[in-house]
Amino acid sequence: MKQSIVVELPKFHQQWCGVLSIFAFFCMAQSFDYGEALSKSLLYFEMQRSGRLPHNQRITWRDHSGLTDGLEDGVDLVGGYYDAGDNVKFGLPMAFTVTMLSWGVIEYGTEIADAGEYHHALEAIKWGTDYFIKAHTHPNVLWAQVGDGYTDHYCWQRPEDMTTSRRAFKVDENKPGSDIAGETAAAMASASIVFRRTNPHYSHLLLHHAEQLFEFGDKYRGKYDESIGVAKGYYTSVSGYMDELLWAALWLYKATHKEVYLEYVLKNGDGFGGTTWAMNEFSWDVKYAGLQITASMLLEEKHKQHKHVLEQYRSKGEHYICTCLDKNNGTNVQRTPAGLLYIRQWNNMQYVSSAAFLLSVYSDYLKASNQMLDCPKGVVDPDEIFSFAKSQIDYILGSNPMNMSYLVGYGSKYPQKVHHRGASVESYKTDKGFIGCTQGYDNWFGRREPNPNVLVGALVGGPDSDDQFRDERSNYMQTEACTYNTAALVGVFAKLHKSEDGPLLAFNI
Ligand SMILES: *[C@@H]1O[C@H](CO)[C@@H](O)[C@H](O)[C@H]1NC(C)=O
Ligand SMILES: *[C@@H]1O[C@H](CO)[C@@H](O)[C@H](O)[C@H]1NC(C)=O
Repeated sequence: MKQSIVVELPKFHQQWCGVLSIFAFFCMAQSFDYGEALSKSLLYFEMQRSGRLPHNQRITWRDHSGLTDGLEDGVDLVGGYYDAGDNVKFGLPMAFTVTMLSWGVIEYGTEIADAGEYHHALEAIKWGTDYFIKAHTHPNVLWAQVGDGYTDHYCWQRPEDMTTSRRAFKVDENKPGSDIAGETAAAMASASIVFRRTNPHYSHLLLHHAEQLFEFGDKYRGKYDESIGVAKGYYTSVSGYMDELLWAALWLYKATHKEVYLEYVLKNGDGFGGTTWAMNEFSWDVKYAGLQITASMLLEEKHKQHKHVLEQYRSKGEHYICTCLDKNNGTNVQRTPAGLLYIRQWNNMQYVSSAAFLLSVYSDYLKASNQMLDCPKGVVDPDEIFSFAKSQIDYILGSNPMNMSYLVGYGSKYPQKVHHRGASVESYKTDKGFIGCTQGYDNWFGRREPNPNVLVGALVGGPDSDDQFRDERSNYMQTEACTYNTAALVGVFAKLHKSEDGPLLAFNI
């Protein structure tokens, strides 16, 4: 009979490598502190806050900003998030950010709690949903944007100094926006699941808004950037609104278990592209892959009678997973020489982080239901799917030819000149002297020095197709970070942290 002695280590980090040769096996690959990455990723959302900052704000180089947002339009739109390196509040990416944060907590809440970050994760979600409640002023009115890219980008100012237009833009019955209404409904529905236990009243309120927003988006059809011209060129809804309507209905089904929402997803799967589009990216614009994967995971539940349509969703969802794994016959996602998924040069990391999340979730699902993934180029087991997701995360954290962490503030080498107004200008807290619109460009944007404030936890756009990265503020395609880049990482960091915690060494005797 064989017996095993199992030695549990408190935690494994690189410092063990030099000390004990017995750990040499682990030292062949770099190892990362995913718990630290998780904590830092949640700090980033505090840096992106607009509005009146609370007393427990941990990031002290930021101060209140946008305190009159909405005033000229007679509505209170104070709060929410700046989505990237500028000071515009764009509703569509903000909503997607909140959906991804919520989905992360739904899938990996236990792991996030074990790392001591549950409260911070919920705060990051609530900063967004509190704003959506304000922005949804009437069943058929959603304020979709404050400020605009054209006037904002003309200036380089800290949010605390902003002198740019803070005009607000809405969608309504006459100027519809089914995409933004749908994504905001998805964000509020998924967040309602998150808050169900800890804050049932708030959860109920979110669900109420989500149901109204979905109804509004479905009844008055249109693309929001056709209604709000200034959104075009910044966050144009290229994929249209059909993906968001299906996505919203699916999240509402998960939040309410009302058959009407599931029927919507089943009935419109074909007409809206849910069961017909085969995708290789998942983003703030294109939700199909997330929708298809989520719909696939209903198959194992009480939905046998809908097997036919759900199988069609699954086939497209698995196309996405296989394409990331390079296991499709024809089209696969391109990779850099060092193995990073590569979709396009502008903010490529957003597609990497969203892929890591979907791969992780689907791997868990297959494992829990004892299934394998059948790709055209072979059968893949769930561990293999997850280890590919991990390879992408490890690349992000420093396992790459530049030896650089693309998660700002993590490790010893990370981008120093992030394209970000607030971070690149001296903190308002230390120097309240007003910095005018173009003065910021003259005195701060072009500086050779690192940013005075470190945008901890931000995931920048990342390297090019050849793994190369130029750390310059003007190189916004690579050095700008976005809230939705980091949002998808939160849950995956937590899962990796959990699985790395106390590795087991087994010796057979
Ligand atoms: C993949 O491509 C090969 C060669 O073109 C073909 O023989 C095979 O049937 C294809 N497999 C699938 C699952 O489409
Ligand atoms: C990255 O680290 C490796 C191994 O230490 C080294 O050979 C390589 O030159 C480094 N690359 C850069 C760009 O610093």
